[in-house]
Amino acid sequence: MENFTAVLRTPELGPGEVREVEAFGRTLALANVGQTYYAVDAHCPNDGTNLARDGRLAGYTLECPADGSAYDIRTGARTGPDSGPALARYPIRVEGNLIYVGRMRMAA
Ligand code: FES
Repeated sequence: MENFTAVLRTPELGPGEVREVEAFGRTLALANVGQTYYAVDAHCPNDGTNLARDGRLAGYTLECPADGSAYDIRTGARTGPDSGPALARYPIRVEGNLIYVGRMRMAA
C-alpha cells in the first residue's frame, strides 16, 4: 500500500464526525458517515476556509461557516444553489483499525 498512508485509527472518528488529517502533504477533511469513511480537501477552493475545523457535517453534507456553501462529502461536489469548484476527494482503505488515505485524487 505504498500509495496509501495511515491517518487515524477508527475509534478516533465516530459516526457523524469530521477531523482534519494530513496525508502526502495535503490537509484533508476525513469524515465518518454511517461507518463509511470519506476524505476530501479540507480547504475551500475559494478562500481557504478550513472545512475540517470550521465546517459542519450534517448527513453527507459538509457546510461552510463562511458563506453557507455545502459539499457532498462522498464526492466533493457542491450541493445547493451555488456553483463553483468541487473539493478534491481521495480514496480510503481500512485495515484492522487503521484508516488509510490514498495519494491520488479521484475523478469527480
Ligand atoms: S468560503 Fe468557500 S466554501 Fe465557504
